[in-house]
Amino acid sequence: MPIDGISLPQHIAIIMDGNGRWAKQRGLVRTEGHKKGAEVFRKICRYASDIGVRYLTFYAFSTENWKRSKQEVGAIMDLLRNYLFEMEERERENEGSGYRIRFIGAREGMPADIVELMDAAEARSADKTHMHINIAVNYGGRAEIVHAARLLGEQIKAGALQPEEITEERLSALLYTADQPDPDLIIRPSGEQRLSNFLVWQSAYAEFYYDDVLWPDFTPEDLDKAILAYAKRDRRFGGVQSQ
Ligand code: IPE
Ligand code: IPE
Ligand code: MG
Repeated sequence: MPIDGISLPQHIAIIMDGNGRWAKQRGLVRTEGHKKGAEVFRKICRYASDIGVRYLTFYAFSTENWKRSKQEVGAIMDLLRNYLFEMEERERENEGSGYRIRFIGAREGMPADIVELMDAAEARSADKTHMHINIAVNYGGRAEIVHAARLLGEQIKAGALQPEEITEERLSALLYTADQPDPDLIIRPSGEQRLSNFLVWQSAYAEFYYDDVLWPDFTPEDLDKAILAYAKRDRRFGGVQSQ
């Protein structure tokens, strides 16, 4: 492992992008790219767990991705269903992982059977501690902040909170990522250099790493490269440069 001796980012977030272009390059339908992307997701989870990453967040489906064709959205939902079934199956055979899973994003609007499976997977993994995996599904960073703002509004309406008591900590505690550290490193493959509504609040001081490789071609070595690049950054958080 080339990253031996390097201090790892505690929380890595990945925008799994480029599935459609990967398929197109091969003359395949877009859904084939998503299928391959889902395999790469599993591989990267295993690798990150092996090297000791504590928090790993994946952007799987955004609030804006509903704009895609019914067929493509359906195929992505099927892949998610398969993953959830597979998780259950593995656990039944006692081959479960040590991952604590959290699905971040709005449950409203998601197929009811998937919501049930997601809730069950979260509950079953609640006492796992080896690695935390967040999967962002029907996720939008702005929607997440609006959701938290509404909850604060309700507390104020109920007389349980004063407006001046709203702090960054209180708002953070109402986000889907409550109790988790902010991402240290955000990786986006596929050559795009934008956030696309991912972790809008949490990325305030994240380091960004862009890679031209398409997600279905992303390998553990690519993750190593991103981690090595991160290790060379000087994070100042508004302070002065370290020596
Ligand atoms: C990412 O790959 C997967 C989702 C957004 C669901 P894309 O499907 O966006 O792939 P490109 O960007 O079209 O290549
Ligand atoms: C971001 O990718 C969302 C996911 C990877 C799930 P998109 O492909 O949807 O983003 P844009 O449209 O290129 O900004
Ligand atoms: Mg894309």
